[in-house]
Amino acid sequence: MTSNFHIFGNFKMHAAGRLLREYASLVGDTRLGLLVPHPYLSQAAHLFQDTHVVVGAQSVSGHAQGAHTGQVSVGMLQELGVGTVMIGHSEVRQQGGDFKAALALAQAAGLRVIYCIGEDISAYESGKRDDVLSAQLADLTTLDQVMVAYEPVWSIGTGVVASVDDINAAVSMIRQWLLENIPGNSGEATVLYGGSINENNCEAVADADINGFLMGGASLKPKVMLEVVKLCKQRSY
Ligand code: PGA
Repeated sequence: MTSNFHIFGNFKMHAAGRLLREYASLVGDTRLGLLVPHPYLSQAAHLFQDTHVVVGAQSVSGHAQGAHTGQVSVGMLQELGVGTVMIGHSEVRQQGGDFKAALALAQAAGLRVIYCIGEDISAYESGKRDDVLSAQLADLTTLDQVMVAYEPVWSIGTGVVASVDDINAAVSMIRQWLLENIPGNSGEATVLYGGSINENNCEAVADADINGFLMGGASLKPKVMLEVVKLCKQRSY
């Protein structure tokens, strides 16, 4: 049982300058993570350097360097002092990319990774969830510095939160897969849930077998985000 409940906000492609300053004025000694668009990483790293806020990037290239216009490398994140990166968010998967390579590069560099997986509505409805999740998990070769975020695509930004039963079924499959397929994994994987979490539903969802939340829309309202942290973080699991 641990009381360590991880809460990350994902700003997606929303202007973050004012938002970051608002967080900085409210955050105090709150522990949380903020995944900000690349152009704001430097500003965020500076604003939160003396706080318990972890600043992370929302994506990273599967290439180390070179002729890949518009992409951002692991080395660039390191140069900015950014130690956390999200890989495989469903909105990034839509654009394609080599997530296995991005994972390998980020892990080799010692970055903390939030690796997102999740089935879409047709996979959910046709009972193919586990097939989709295992195919996405197969890009992982180690669990070093990795948190897995289970985000059913049909729940992202829709206001439809997965039920605790659905989350538990998926998370149990994820934990079992990791146990069987990742060498050296003790079964203690950190698994977050993401999809339409807000201040009204967070406590009920936190009853699922999860270690935290990845929050999109609600993270654009710092007061709501901090309320969620307050409601869920002190829980013992
Ligand atoms: P949401 O987004 O909280 O707005 O559903 C979650 C995410 O995309 O990480």
